[in-house]
Amino acid sequence: MKKGRARFELDEKTLRQIDDMVVAEQHFLAERARLAERQGNDPEPIRRISSRRHFMAAAAAGLVGAGVLPKIVHAAVPSGAVDRRVPADPSKVPGTPTFDDGGYGSRSQFETEARWRFPTPTRESSWTMTPLQDSMGIITPSGLHYERHHSGIATIDPAKHVLYVHGMVERPKKYSMADIKRMPSISRTHMMECSGNGLTEWTKPTLKTVQATHGLTSTSEWTGVPMALIMKEVGVMPGAKWVLAEGDDGAVMTRSLPIEKMHEDAFLAYGQNGEALRPEQGYPLRINTPGWEGNTSIKWVRRLEFSDVPFETREETSKYTDLMPNGKARQFTFVMEAKSVITFPSGEMKLPGPGFYEITGLAWSGRGKITRVEVSANGGQTWSEAQLQGPVLPICHTRFRLPWYWDGRPAILQSRCVDETGYVQPTIKQLTDVRGTNGPIASIYHLNGIQSWAVAANGSVSNVHHF
Ligand code: CO
Repeated sequence: MKKGRARFELDEKTLRQIDDMVVAEQHFLAERARLAERQGNDPEPIRRISSRRHFMAAAAAGLVGAGVLPKIVHAAVPSGAVDRRVPADPSKVPGTPTFDDGGYGSRSQFETEARWRFPTPTRESSWTMTPLQDSMGIITPSGLHYERHHSGIATIDPAKHVLYVHGMVERPKKYSMADIKRMPSISRTHMMECSGNGLTEWTKPTLKTVQATHGLTSTSEWTGVPMALIMKEVGVMPGAKWVLAEGDDGAVMTRSLPIEKMHEDAFLAYGQNGEALRPEQGYPLRINTPGWEGNTSIKWVRRLEFSDVPFETREETSKYTDLMPNGKARQFTFVMEAKSVITFPSGEMKLPGPGFYEITGLAWSGRGKITRVEVSANGGQTWSEAQLQGPVLPICHTRFRLPWYWDGRPAILQSRCVDETGYVQPTIKQLTDVRGTNGPIASIYHLNGIQSWAVAANGSVSNVHHF
């Protein structure tokens, strides 16, 4: 599988799907640019009319023609923001009354970061990606945490939610949310990554932004109860080797998980970033399997069944396996290996001109702490060690930074990380040399190769393959 292997050909259907993805990303970028432009260019106070109903109400009140509303802008306020009048001089008028938000805050109406939904055929089986290009520090706001749903977002009343634990256990048990919250709790700050992160990028650079190429990873502080505690309480039998975790969503998502991981560090989470889980993150209860493919952190978890063998569910046979060159598929490939990506500058950005920039990005490993990140500005010919921003936590996004003087000539920016096991992030070629390019888009899952961003002489940054 070295040189001279046959060039991988994508079939017509896959090519059309990829075209759809590219078009959808272009629409998303255009919409964001439109929103930003409008906000940046309005010197006048703006009353945004975000729905037809509001517009009608305003018109009926005679406000529109009377010039009380200086401009009618048919633009939606960014998700998660509240539409407020912007005074010409905020120091000359009282601000928004305290508690105007009803006691739960929202973000500024000038901030436009949003998750991007991948253009899957349905919105029930779909995913959204975190805007890594705008990320600061290491924590992902809960409202921007990536999502992957297989049959929509379940709506569950926590007062009625129950977790059944049974199978090869001495004392089968039914837990209410109140039972679980009474148990000793832990909080852990961990990254999570969908094993399909980057699936479009195996054979050629496809999508344009770091959000679309890498946005299926996020970091939250998760709070809950160690799985080991639950296992102790129910008395798992000696012969039990696996546990089936089952979700209460429309897909009844199920995965078989090895019992060693449950003993080691898996937990049942009900908290995220200091509050209850968001519904799209599995409210009221999910599993967290630190460092393993996101799919194994079953959301809306309602049942744990202990067994001596795996259950061979759909999501571990026809999906979430890695097709190898010999036509066989690797199963139960759980760990997300070390990976890094430069978030600034990244695809679709434009550097205003030569001079100093701070290159920054994120690195993470499902096996522990990141120990080193190196950055290259010449396509991997030479590397400089980046500074890691503390705290550097195990199985967590780690922010890296490196000052860079751009001389105005074309450059290829890359980052590569090393984790505490000594594992070095590979190039995409090193990966495909071993794993081949079988499957609809190569092996789909577990692409952790080095990302390359090309900086052109005019400062524009684009996604390229360079290895
Ligand atoms: Co896997």
